[in-house]
Amino acid sequence: MTSPSILQQPLTLPCGQVIPNRIIKGAMTEGVADKNDHATTLHQTLYRTWSKGETGVLISGNIMVDKRYLERAGNVVVEDESGFEQLKAWADATHEGSSLLWAQISHPGRQCPRMVSTKPLSASNIQLNMIGNFGKPKAATLEDIQDVIQRFATTASILKKAGFDGVEIHAAHGYFISQFLSPNTNQRNDQYGGSLENRARLLLNVIASVRAAVGPDFPVAVKLNSSDFQKGGFTLDECVQVVQWLNEAGIDLLEISGGTYEQLEFFKDQPVRESTKQREAFFLEYAQSIKAVAKMPLIVTGGFRTKQAMEEALEEGLIDAIGIARPLCLNPDFPQEFFNGALNALPNDESQLVIGKGFWGPASSSKSIQALNNQAQAGWYYHQIERIAHGQAPEQDFSPRKALFAHLKKDAGRALRRKF
Ligand SMILES: Cc1cc2nc3c(=O)[nH]c(=O)nc-3n(C[C@H](O)[C@H](O)[C@H](O)COP(=O)(O)O)c2cc1C
Repeated sequence: MTSPSILQQPLTLPCGQVIPNRIIKGAMTEGVADKNDHATTLHQTLYRTWSKGETGVLISGNIMVDKRYLERAGNVVVEDESGFEQLKAWADATHEGSSLLWAQISHPGRQCPRMVSTKPLSASNIQLNMIGNFGKPKAATLEDIQDVIQRFATTASILKKAGFDGVEIHAAHGYFISQFLSPNTNQRNDQYGGSLENRARLLLNVIASVRAAVGPDFPVAVKLNSSDFQKGGFTLDECVQVVQWLNEAGIDLLEISGGTYEQLEFFKDQPVRESTKQREAFFLEYAQSIKAVAKMPLIVTGGFRTKQAMEEALEEGLIDAIGIARPLCLNPDFPQEFFNGALNALPNDESQLVIGKGFWGPASSSKSIQALNNQAQAGWYYHQIERIAHGQAPEQDFSPRKALFAHLKKDAGRALRRKF
């Protein structure tokens, strides 16, 4: 008999919900919605499979609040009750296992591919410079901002009614709310721009309207960058200040990540700093300053791969639960296997997922190659997610080059099907 791990301890949230253990699946966009942007039976199979692996909470891939702006064709959109039965079936399928299901609710802002919208919406009209794939955004008017705030609340209340167990507001990774937080993308001079207080106003207003819509007993989490890791972007000091405001905003969990599409910190293959290598998780050292002020439970997502590193982070009180994403695409049962002692470590495969190795040079040699490699890696994981969603086993030896082309082709096909 192995003695129970600290990972198996339940966690009680401020709203009263009890998470059965300390492993939380980070959001991963699934891309398997139908052409009406509704959930499908593929979501049911995927989340039923994950739930049987005993992850405490499964946070969904980002669910969009506005049909006009997606992170990717294939996203689920919830802006009215038209896909309600499909959402309910997704929640019911998840509840066949032991996991709770939270919805990540999101607006991509300028990180909306051209195939979806040539004129996305952002804090200011500053275009994302990535292989021409993203249009020049329109700066949101005050009316647009009010509309987005209301949309987050509407989406959250529909998901609650459909049986989801919580929501997470996506304020990280350079999406709409994160674009408001960053001085690089927010050059407004009204009450939503300029000082940090003004740049954080959108986030705080979204939280208030979501909380008013779902009531006090329903988990509302926030995913926030510890830093954008970009010159002139949102910094750790600013994050620490925002967390103090979040203390007053009544959230149930804070998930710390980092980076944007232009600087994909959360998608690294190997930690660079020696201190990070030892602790595995990319953002753990930043979490220390955040934990010092945070009153809500805190999790860090990115890089955790061994049971020991996870247990140490919890035992040291650095964080309250472990966020983990990519390993669940290869082993949906790993939490159960950690708990029963069958497994102690997950493979760290990301360094293998580089196209053009020895041909295009190292992954870091140019911005364009980095962007292609990131797309290849995303495509490789999308492929594994789709396999699980079809009831198949993951395919570890799938080529990243094939993954890149399959992903670009599929996303283009989905975008066209939505339009016609
Ligand atoms: C295929 C894929 C899709 C992702 N989609 C999202 C998403 O929809 N929302 C989000 O906040 N993060 C997303 N992420 C980032 C993960 O939630 C997580 O922060 C990141 O993968 C680092 O954690 P890991 O090292 O445990 O994989 C995605 C990651 C992958 C691999």
